[in-house]
Amino acid sequence: MDEEEIRTVEMDLLVEGMRRVHGHDFSEYAVASLRRRLAQWLGTSGYPTFGAAIPNVLRDPELCNSLVEGVTVNVSEMFRDPHFFKALREKVVPHLQTYPHARVWVAGCATGEEVYSLAILLREEGLGDKCRIYATDLNQDVLARAQQGIFQLQYMRQYTRNYQKAGGTGEFSDYYAARYDRAIMDPTLMRNVVFAAHNLVTDSDFSEMQLILCRNVLIYFKPSLKDRVLNLFDRCLTPGGYLCLGTKEVLEGRIIGEHYREALPHTRIYRKKYGDPQRI
Ligand SMILES: C[S@@+](CC[C@H](N)C(=O)[O-])C[C@H]1O[C@@H](n2cnc3c(N)ncnc32)[C@H](O)[C@@H]1O
Repeated sequence: MDEEEIRTVEMDLLVEGMRRVHGHDFSEYAVASLRRRLAQWLGTSGYPTFGAAIPNVLRDPELCNSLVEGVTVNVSEMFRDPHFFKALREKVVPHLQTYPHARVWVAGCATGEEVYSLAILLREEGLGDKCRIYATDLNQDVLARAQQGIFQLQYMRQYTRNYQKAGGTGEFSDYYAARYDRAIMDPTLMRNVVFAAHNLVTDSDFSEMQLILCRNVLIYFKPSLKDRVLNLFDRCLTPGGYLCLGTKEVLEGRIIGEHYREALPHTRIYRKKYGDPQRI
């Protein structure tokens, strides 16, 4: 075996150790991007090889957290893909308005930009107090940042443009207070948001959701894991409910795809069909 092959074996051992010791299962993440991110993490870890890092990763929860942070991609932005939020406002909000109380799950919420965007949109549509949002991620550190609701002020100009393109009906600057180089989001936006750690690979279902957003998460999974997670969403979603994926993620060709139709072309907003009672 050459050095490259030994390095691959060590990466596999590290992934296996993370699963068995810490319960973080990355074995069904897309191989190329997982290996690339593991290599980047090693470069910043101070360890010469994966073999040298393994004993400490297995014993040190903080090092384990740093590895989770390194493996997962947490990039997000407010009103990311504004046309998606515009379609959400036009197509999905009327459905939510038919419920006295609706339940929404944002899976893989990262540092919370998507949750704040959704909370703003729902408030503007009169649903602020009628929807409960469950915002989850496997990474506790990003969840803590999401709960704080403090973002870099320099991004607010871009977010304001996104908000306007997404059909925002107010002034984006009304939703945050500027303090030095930070934007502190209006905490009342989070009144009906529950943040919780949840791992899509290992944790159980939420019940009776009318809307699920899981954007830019499945792209990092192998097809087998994509299908398992989509099945999980399918079990959680009420008939007529909506499942929203990222721009590079599609339901067509996936295991649950035939039970959904895209609400508007190219939006990745899929509606679960009614009927077929034995599925529900
Ligand atoms: C690129 S971010 C997406 C953020 C947001 N949804 C968006 O589209 O802007 C991907 C998020 O998925 C989370 N993630 C990755 N694997 C996960 C898993 N197995 N369970 C739950 N969250 C996961 C990561 O921690 C990360 O915060």
